[in-house]
Amino acid sequence: MIEHNISLKPYNTFGIDVNAKSFGRFGSLDELKDLLRNRDKETPLFILGGGSNILLTKDLPFFVLKNEISGIEIINETETHVVVKVGSGVEWHAFVRYTVEKGWGGIENMSLIPGSVGASPMQNIGAYGAEIKDTFVSLEALHIDSLEVHTFNREQCQFGYRESVFKRALKDQYVIISVSYQLSKNPVINTTYGAIQSEIEVMGVSEITVDTVSQAVMNIRRSKLPDPKVLGNAGSFFKNPVVSREVLEQIAVNYPDVPHYPQENGEEKLAAGWLIEKAGWKGKRTGNCGVHEKQALVLVNYGGSTGREIFDLSTSIIEDIRAKFGVTLEREVNIL
Ligand code: EPU
Repeated sequence: MIEHNISLKPYNTFGIDVNAKSFGRFGSLDELKDLLRNRDKETPLFILGGGSNILLTKDLPFFVLKNEISGIEIINETETHVVVKVGSGVEWHAFVRYTVEKGWGGIENMSLIPGSVGASPMQNIGAYGAEIKDTFVSLEALHIDSLEVHTFNREQCQFGYRESVFKRALKDQYVIISVSYQLSKNPVINTTYGAIQSEIEVMGVSEITVDTVSQAVMNIRRSKLPDPKVLGNAGSFFKNPVVSREVLEQIAVNYPDVPHYPQENGEEKLAAGWLIEKAGWKGKRTGNCGVHEKQALVLVNYGGSTGREIFDLSTSIIEDIRAKFGVTLEREVNIL
């Protein structure tokens, strides 16, 4: 069924109230194909997953398609590994908990990341020392023009930091249908990220399992990141910028303790949250939106904010960080 002038407020974690020109839901590949065949070809498409990484700044003159493809299926199993094929509309965290409850390792560090499984390869989601590219096997995607299903392996997805081919060369050409991940039955626990280690110590458990790591990550995220059901937000609003050594050294003159992570090519990744906090924005509120008081990388909607207000706030932050540190922040959230 195709509906018209539908409010997108329930479908974006920022809680922005704008309308879509038309709207349809699909729970299977066949339903998706039907919607695509019967659509008005003049209206551009927009595929909506969990709506957790978008900022809606205006009514969308688009045909919005809400992905509700469900299902988790084991497609290969050995003594040591299992490959699981997951419907792209499944909630990412529900899938993480499914694997953790089985005792399988690989994605437990990415517990509680909002959004759907279909969005996970889109921007190679990651947190606490893990990225999906390390457990990813392949995905199936429907080519919108030909209505053919194509399979992509890891190389073809061209994963980078919060990047994939679906955000670049193949943008808007495919709808992801399912994603397959390989998980380990003999998990290697990854607690290299300092915060996890200290949280596990606080938890005081004797044996560290994938569930311990998952619980630790959930505790850390709940303590720092606002729950979108309570306070509208889309997680990290900006990417962590990668800069030259010279830029880092310039900042270190005044801030010798600036957090930085050396990259393979000799460049340095900085923490955008740190820059924004040092520039005095943390906890700042303008109108109905602001910078989260516990994590400066997150912008929040206190209720009733427009997307435009949040966008303008982000522009002010970008300009200020450029003026103060000579670093240009890039938005991680997709602006519409
Ligand atoms: N920091 C501050 N002030 C702040 C926030 C951070 O000084 O307000 C400092 C921290 O003290 C630390 C450094 O910045 O030294 C990094 O902070 P944190 O470990 O919290 O991680 P992040 O770089 O701010 C990234 C991801 C998050 C992910 C965390 C944990 C990006 C854009 N963000 O944040 O991902 O959960 O690491 O791995 O890469 C998301 O993408 O939506 C997201 C939440």
